[in-house]
Amino acid sequence: LTKPFLAGRSVLVTAGPTRESWDPIRFLSNRSSGKMGYALAAAAAEAGAQVTLISGPVALETPLGVHRIQVESAQQMCDAMLVQVAAMDILIACAAVADYRPVKQATQKIKKTHQGLTLELERTPDIVEQLSNLADKPFIVGFAAETEHLETNASRKLKHKGLDMIAANWVREGQGFEVDDNALTVLWHGGKVDLPRTSKTQLARTFIKLIAEHYHAKGPA
Ligand code: PMT
Repeated sequence: LTKPFLAGRSVLVTAGPTRESWDPIRFLSNRSSGKMGYALAAAAAEAGAQVTLISGPVALETPLGVHRIQVESAQQMCDAMLVQVAAMDILIACAAVADYRPVKQATQKIKKTHQGLTLELERTPDIVEQLSNLADKPFIVGFAAETEHLETNASRKLKHKGLDMIAANWVREGQGFEVDDNALTVLWHGGKVDLPRTSKTQLARTFIKLIAEHYHAKGPA
């Protein structure tokens, strides 16, 4: 592939964590910094795509030429993706969406007592699974952050979530969440490749090229 290999294509990238509030001050979240997703958005824009980035709360600048939509909760990310998805050729779901949210959100600050506190949690919508059931769906690339059984878990998510590709991401010292470097094992139906550890910027460029090759090979839906 020669640049710009994604010219004329629309790419939706999700990045960062979501926040699930239980009162106006406190929330549940995770360690995603948004670095991997923002690097992917930048690399897709470099490759000539029109890029929309749906982002949870992170402390990063919007990459050049990228249209950013800011959200906070999993439900807001889901709603924003449902609005955008019809116009997209490729979806890259890199966000670390919270799997659980508090059942109740207090309208006022919950005052502490001498007792412990139990929060009741419910599942958030599984966004990519929902989108993969649409009749007119884009080429969907998911991520799987794992601390054990990396390929088994990722390959299960590839099938269950109806994805075209999945990037399996070890959560280990020095790679994965928060840091500047990462390594990925990318799986698709019938193949896989290891993308060795490097900066998220460089890794994103290699991965975007791989996604484009598979997208072009699959042809229009
Ligand atoms: O942001 P950084 O600090 O740079 O870190 C990057 C990263 C480690 C967050 C990223 O590379 C990564 O692995 N992202 C996915 C993390 C994750 O939470 O994966 P998961 O196994 O929970 O989810 C699997 C897939 O389903 C993901 O594509 C996710 O976006 C999607 N999902 C998950 C839950 C949910 N309710 N809805 C979803 O769509």
